[in-house]
Amino acid sequence: MCGIVGYVGREKVKDLLVDGLSRLEYRGYDSAGFALYPKDDTANFVVRRCVGVVAELRKATQDVGQTETQGIAHTRWATHGVPNEVNAHPHLTGLTVLVHNGIIENHAHLRSAFQEQGVAFHSQTDTEVFARLIESNREWHVQKEKEASGKDFLDLPTERKRDIVLEALRQSMRQVDGHYAILFMVKGLPGYLFGVQSGAPMVVGRTPHGSLIASDLHALIRHTREVSFVPHGAIVEASAEGYRYIDPASGKASTPKFETINWSAQEVEKEGYEHFMLKEIHQQPLVVADTLSGRLPQEAGDPFIWDHPKAHEVLWKNCKKVYLVACGTAYYAAMVGKYFLERWARIPVEVDLASEFRYRSPILEPGTVLGVISQSGETADTLAALRLANEMGVTTFSVCNVPGSTIMRESSFQYPTKAGPEIGVASTKAFTAQLVVLAALAQDIARLRGFKADPAPFARLPHDMEQILARAQSYMDLGARLADKKTILFVGRGAMYPLALEGALKLKEISYRHAEGYAAGELKHGPIALVDERLATIVLGPSDDLLPKTLSNLEEIRSRKGYIIGIGEESNKNFKALCDEYIGMPATDWALAPLLYVLPLQLISYGLAKHLECDIDKPRNLAKSVTVE
Ligand code: AGP
Repeated sequence: MCGIVGYVGREKVKDLLVDGLSRLEYRGYDSAGFALYPKDDTANFVVRRCVGVVAELRKATQDVGQTETQGIAHTRWATHGVPNEVNAHPHLTGLTVLVHNGIIENHAHLRSAFQEQGVAFHSQTDTEVFARLIESNREWHVQKEKEASGKDFLDLPTERKRDIVLEALRQSMRQVDGHYAILFMVKGLPGYLFGVQSGAPMVVGRTPHGSLIASDLHALIRHTREVSFVPHGAIVEASAEGYRYIDPASGKASTPKFETINWSAQEVEKEGYEHFMLKEIHQQPLVVADTLSGRLPQEAGDPFIWDHPKAHEVLWKNCKKVYLVACGTAYYAAMVGKYFLERWARIPVEVDLASEFRYRSPILEPGTVLGVISQSGETADTLAALRLANEMGVTTFSVCNVPGSTIMRESSFQYPTKAGPEIGVASTKAFTAQLVVLAALAQDIARLRGFKADPAPFARLPHDMEQILARAQSYMDLGARLADKKTILFVGRGAMYPLALEGALKLKEISYRHAEGYAAGELKHGPIALVDERLATIVLGPSDDLLPKTLSNLEEIRSRKGYIIGIGEESNKNFKALCDEYIGMPATDWALAPLLYVLPLQLISYGLAKHLECDIDKPRNLAKSVTVE
């Protein structure tokens, strides 16, 4: 995710923009920039961009911004193109300067079409392509106008210039695929900002001195509580006097309805959620869509789209064995990844805890590829494992969530997750993003190795996740009811076994209550001695070929008066009849079940921790990134 801010009014704009960016920094912070509309219309836009956090931008631009009162700004979380100054926003093309949050899925196609016309691009971003598209459509209309009236764009009346820009924008929206929010300005049209909300959030704020637009409330709430959330698909035109929404299909304009937001600034950071963790749990459908966006093939059998397609193909056609190494939640994602790679791509996979791996003198034969999985990209144990593999001459890859992090930089190949910054210490959205990257990678490797790959089930993932999250309150209430249990056992088979481990970790981390994850088949080898009415067992049972065995394990618990919470398909009446409480889930493909079944586990833990009044976002003794051994 990236953050965008814009303002047009009577106040000096630069500090407003930079302050706004600093409130959006949680959305992305690998580079930042702004463009100011000059007071003297004959001068150029004042554009400043720099790598690093927003504070770097503030430091580097003390020399500008004393007079301007209109501008746009951006803080980046790289999706296309490495984090550097060239790829930082805003992007200036002709008379148009633009900032963007989201993904233009057909940017490569548009880029090559422009390049065939001799257009040169300066960055690797999809954003620059979008700016070029708007500019070239504007130029086309200007050319028509010139043929009709003999006038250049800058000689036209303001009204006519606005119409041309809006026409060019509507045309561009029809030509792009993807989900995005953009803001832009056009030289020769002082006093106007233009924007579109098409699948990425945007909110406008009304102040006594001008109009403020941003990705979300963070950047507005200090200036105004009078806001309007830009509807999906709408064009927004802002001036110092106010706003218009324009329907791109009909071109009809309407005036936004404003509402008063009664949130404290602190609450705004959580966008109304009580904790970052709860917000991040609810972000997961969008995160999965973002992480898959631009990667899924159009047709089954087509290649997935990665950043380094040729080298990717050579790597995986020659790979003989995979190691997946990580810590904590990322390690459980690696365990699920093993099922994907072995079942689809028929590659042998070893999964190892990073803190163990390098101390057991691992034997890495030729043809081995080692992957590390890490949300932060800075975990000391995981980084050390990566460095050992690099020293041993093994090709490495990372599934990591922070662009520019050490692990990302030091791995040979990168398959990034796109979860945006994860603030809650307990990992949630990064985990599901890791699973979806591993599943997509395994599908593509299967294709490369001549096996069947069918990415179709991925498409409905965000929808199914939304359906489950709609029942969040009931899962949180169930979690609170576990407060009187002495310990909670999580059990599952197959890919549900790592889920059981993850569910236990979530509960321990944030509620400080004891929990344990176990392979369901292991119960009779010891843990069943724990079972009595004060022990609750959460049984993970999607309707796969392992379910009958899981149900017989469940009977073993029942016969010893254990309290059973089942999580299985809604329609599975006989599973439900064996449980004291039951969470019904949608029918799904075995591989996607982990992405769905983890959602109630996260919310059960959250509900118990909230009931116990724990510090959910910053649990005691823990750190978001363990950068020491
Ligand atoms: C997960 O909820 C914990 N915060 C912890 O186990 C975490 O997954 C582990 O420290 C690995 O962190 P990383 O993904 O940033 O490498």
